[in-house]
Amino acid sequence: MSKPAIPVLSGKDGVKIPAIGFGTSQLGDCAEIVATALKLGYRHIDTAWKYGSEKGVGEGIKASRVPREEIFLVTKVSHEYLAADDFARSVDESLKNLQVDYIDLLHVHWPTIDNIPLAETMGALAKAKSDGLARHVGVANFNIALLSEAMRLCEEPIVSLQAEYHPYLEQTKVLDFCRKSGVIFTAYCPLGRGRLFKDPVIAEIAKAKGRTIAQIALRWQIQQGNIAPIPRSSDAKHMAESLDVFDFTLTDDEMRRIHALARADGRIANPKGRAPAWD
Ligand SMILES: NC(=O)c1ccc[n+]([C@@H]2O[C@H](COP(=O)([O-])OP(=O)(O)OC[C@H]3O[C@@H](n4cnc5c(N)ncnc54)[C@H](OP(=O)(O)O)[C@@H]3O)[C@@H](O)[C@H]2O)c1
Repeated sequence: MSKPAIPVLSGKDGVKIPAIGFGTSQLGDCAEIVATALKLGYRHIDTAWKYGSEKGVGEGIKASRVPREEIFLVTKVSHEYLAADDFARSVDESLKNLQVDYIDLLHVHWPTIDNIPLAETMGALAKAKSDGLARHVGVANFNIALLSEAMRLCEEPIVSLQAEYHPYLEQTKVLDFCRKSGVIFTAYCPLGRGRLFKDPVIAEIAKAKGRTIAQIALRWQIQQGNIAPIPRSSDAKHMAESLDVFDFTLTDDEMRRIHALARADGRIANPKGRAPAWD
């Protein structure tokens, strides 16, 4: 029996984001891995100038022979390049690295650290869209106050917030704010960068469902609605497994038990000098 197609999350500005994506940080030269992910059915690929994976992503897209228009391609401008001129240069470099003439969703990777006014960065982000270099725009690692300010300052709709989320990290406030504001939440580190794999509660639910821990964690995120997790893997078996999360449902009790796993020290990505005051 064929597996259900990947659902899409529809948001502002007509954006349609495949409900699961493929992460490419720490993968280095990832052309073969990305080509495999696309052949397995991923249609949402997440990269960033900072990861050094954009060239590999571009080559992987070419090698896969999947038509460009079928792929939802996301990249990010790094915190060093948030002044308007630097921002524009960074977007051009990303386009060259990726060998494409547009990006589907362009994110600001982290809020500014060098006192560059947010208005300037939002102007540069909106310009990338009005110049046709990005179809949609968003921000990553912004807290609620910064996201509100970004939405006020940006002349183009902010369609996505990319931020960390997994069962060990409480994000209720941010998720509620995104839902209320019509902003899709893209969940990074959705597998807690591997930290979940020994969790006894998720393991018990996985056993009862005949699924793996990764599948339960991803399903828990997707089932909440408005969340698109972007797991990374270099293992084709894991890639296929993470894609196979659309034909089962967690009960309310299972959802609650996983929610209850959130910990005060659950956050993984928290770089000093770059991270905002988290909500
Ligand atoms: N915006 C930001 O600031 C930001 C920050 C961090 C991450 N991200 C994005 O989010 C993506 C995902 O986050 P992440 O890479 O940090 O961590 P992650 O996806 O939570 O975890 C990756 C780890 O999980 C393993 N894994 C993946 N699928 C698995 C499966 N089905 N079964 C068992 N193990 C599995 C991988 O190992 P194998 O290779 O062996 O499968 C890898 O060690 C990144 O790649 C990046 O694109 C964005």
